[in-house]
Amino acid sequence: MEQPFIEIRNLVKVYKTAAGEFPALKGVSLSIERGEFVAITGKSGSGKSTLLNTFTGIDHPTSGEIFIGGEALHRYSEQRMAIWRGRNLGIIFQFFQLLPTLSAMENILMAMDLNNVIKPRDRRKRAQYLLDLVGLGDKVHKMPSELSGGEQQRVAIARSLANDPPLVVADEPTGNLDSNTAESIFALFKTLVEQGKTFIMVTHDVDLARRIDHNIIIADGQIVSQTRHRPEEEHLRSVYLESAKQLAYSLKSSSARTNTPLDVD
Ligand SMILES: Nc1ncnc2c1ncn2[C@@H]1O[C@H](COP(=O)(O)OP(=O)(O)O)[C@@H](O)[C@H]1O
Ligand SMILES: [Mg+2]
Repeated sequence: MEQPFIEIRNLVKVYKTAAGEFPALKGVSLSIERGEFVAITGKSGSGKSTLLNTFTGIDHPTSGEIFIGGEALHRYSEQRMAIWRGRNLGIIFQFFQLLPTLSAMENILMAMDLNNVIKPRDRRKRAQYLLDLVGLGDKVHKMPSELSGGEQQRVAIARSLANDPPLVVADEPTGNLDSNTAESIFALFKTLVEQGKTFIMVTHDVDLARRIDHNIIIADGQIVSQTRHRPEEEHLRSVYLESAKQLAYSLKSSSARTNTPLDVD
C-alpha cells in the first residue's frame, strides 16, 4: 500500500525545563492524505503548537518518526530541514509575522529570494498574482502597519504560497481576527484546498473545526480523536435550508401584505 502523504509514528517531545522534564507529546501517531483540510483542536497547553512545530522543523522531536512526501524528516539535520521547509512548506502564524520594514510585495519577494524555487524573472509577477488571489491586488506597496489585521493575515497567506508548497500549516490563524474577518480568511483556506494544497490548521475555534473534513483532537499530549467526514456539505445544506425557509417566509408575508397571489412555477 502507498504511504500516506504525511505519516507520523509515535512522536514524543519532552521539554527540559528548570523544573525537570516535561512531556508535551506522549506518542502521537497520525496520517494525512494529500489534498486534505485538517483541523487540530484541543485546549490551551494540550500540545497543538508543539505537534505542528515538529513538522515545520521549528522543534525537533525527542523520538518518533515523521514522513512527509516519503521523506524521513526526523532524520534530517537542521540545515537540511531548512531547505526542505523552504521548498515544501508554507507557514501562517497567529500574529502574521510580517517583516515590518518591507511592503506587502517585498515580504513575498523576500520569501522567494530566500528559497530560490521561483525563477528571479517570474517573482514579481507571481507576488502580484498571489496578492490578487488574497484580494489585496491594490495594496501591494502598503507597509504592514498600514494594513488591518485581516489584511496582514492575507499578506501572510500570500507569503506562505510564495514558493508554491504542497503543504501549508497555520497555527491559530484566525485567533487574532474578528469573526467576519476570520470567516473570509477561512474561505480563502478552502480555496487553497480546492487548488490542491494540503492544509493543516491548529485552532481554538470549535465551530470552524466542525466545518473541516478531517478533525484531530489532542489532549494532554495525546490524540484523543481523529475523524474524517464532509461537514462542509452538511453546513451548506443547513445554510441552504435556512435561507429557503426565510425566503418562503418573506414571500408569504409579502403576499399576505399585498394580497396578490404568488406567481411561482
Ligand atoms: N519551549 C518549551 N519549554 C518548556 N515547555 C514548553 C515549551 N513549549 C511548550 N511547552 C509546554 O508544552 C505544553 C504544550 O504546549 P503547546 O504545544 O504550546 O500547547 P498548545 O499549542 O496546545 O496551547 C504546555 O504545557 C507548554 O507549557
Ligand atoms: Mg499553541
